[in-house]
Amino acid sequence: MKQILWGGATSASQYEGAFQVGNKGLDTQDCRPYLPRTSDATVKTRLLSFATINEAKVCQDIGQYPFRRGSKGYSHLHEDLELLKELGIDIYRFSISWARIFPHGDEKEPNEEGLKYYDEIIKVLKKAGIKIFITMNHYAIPLHLVETYGGWKNRKMIDYYMKFAITIMNRWKDDIDYWLPFNEINAGYFSPYNGVGLIKEDEKSYNQSDVFQSLHHQFVASAKVIQYGHKKVKGQFGCMIASFCYYAYTSRPEDNLKLIKDENINQWFCMDVLVRGYYPTYMFAFFREHDIHIYMEDEDKKILLENTSDFISFSYYSSSIITTEEAPQTAGNLVVTTRNPYLQSTKWGWQIDPIGLCTTLHKFYDRYQKPIIIAENGMGTEDVLELDFKIHDQYRIQYLQDHFEQIIKAQKDGVDIIAYCMWGIIDIVSAGSCEMDKRYGVIYVDGNNHGDGTYQRYKKDSFSWYQQFINQYHKEKEEER
Ligand code: BG6
Repeated sequence: MKQILWGGATSASQYEGAFQVGNKGLDTQDCRPYLPRTSDATVKTRLLSFATINEAKVCQDIGQYPFRRGSKGYSHLHEDLELLKELGIDIYRFSISWARIFPHGDEKEPNEEGLKYYDEIIKVLKKAGIKIFITMNHYAIPLHLVETYGGWKNRKMIDYYMKFAITIMNRWKDDIDYWLPFNEINAGYFSPYNGVGLIKEDEKSYNQSDVFQSLHHQFVASAKVIQYGHKKVKGQFGCMIASFCYYAYTSRPEDNLKLIKDENINQWFCMDVLVRGYYPTYMFAFFREHDIHIYMEDEDKKILLENTSDFISFSYYSSSIITTEEAPQTAGNLVVTTRNPYLQSTKWGWQIDPIGLCTTLHKFYDRYQKPIIIAENGMGTEDVLELDFKIHDQYRIQYLQDHFEQIIKAQKDGVDIIAYCMWGIIDIVSAGSCEMDKRYGVIYVDGNNHGDGTYQRYKKDSFSWYQQFINQYHKEKEEER
């Protein structure tokens, strides 16, 4: 049985900080303010209009804008890479900040200083024998592209994105093991500001034709990356979605039918296009029902069909419930769902379900028969830095242990698993809530929601647990051979 690669993941906007260092341009994440967790704040956090963006542009206070400081990874880079080496991970997933390479997004030439920052990461990882999994774009979009062209609803974005993508593919053409054109591509549907750079001026919902037009442009961009990459670049190319592991609330046939329909739209749609190479028929019915109109050029169908993904990947945090009834709700990644009475939740309301990960692996593999990377998984919660600088995160160890058991079970059942990347391996700013308090890492970063703190790094108890797990896993696999 092939050895699973065990690793960790971060994203540029949540980790790097240094938002104006080395000529980096402003991006969409730099303009998301931190607001304390109240119901009112949740609303304000989500509404990013041109007015709030203009406010953000003139504000120099990085305390208010958490993605401008991230975990101060830019200035702690070497220390962090040393910690990852010591941890013994097999694979590291990180993203490239588009605005570090093309500060406005539509320049003719890339910003050499931005490229050099990533040269350094890649050099260190390669030397250490750690496989490299690059997310080409993880949410953050150069702000200028959103302000000037309206984000991904504009077809010109494909060209600007391709310029960026080709620049980085050419630069590291022999160095990268796995390439991912977009993080959680279905996030464009649930979180259009983050996913596809759409802005709305009031609380009304987004124009759905704009949302699906934007997604279509990202599909074409994704296929074009694969087309170019397969000809000129080493490594495998994949796609990724946020997975939801839906259960029907009751055995009522209505609940089950709703499950299938919601699952199609929320979960399978983007991956069906990117893996099978064409739009699924259920989508045309959905478009008709919701009066959604999207424009496709003649060549798009061919490009999609001829350039499908080599591997698939997903984020998995919780399972969700579908019901036709009114029922108590709880939070989850990107969506609110019905509470499952059989599961415990984190403080943030995300329901903990290791078996759901096994189920998800089966479902994805049955549907596509492509090798899988679990691109994100982990437990986001508060940690306490004790007076002796220790962090006793037994709850995280338990979470990881339970999920790893299910991954190994799924592999024994025949699912082809390439790798597991633990999310936020070094504490980072939460993408959903803009908080630093919602921590995922095995490495603690001493900063708070307002940006106060030393930003020193400390190993949590889960650090040595994960280190031993990886070590032991490979030892056993070697012995089996
Ligand atoms: C995924 C994103 O949706 O979930 C990450 O790809 C994000 O960027 C992760 O951090 C966890 O969500 P949150 O809101 O807890 O940061």
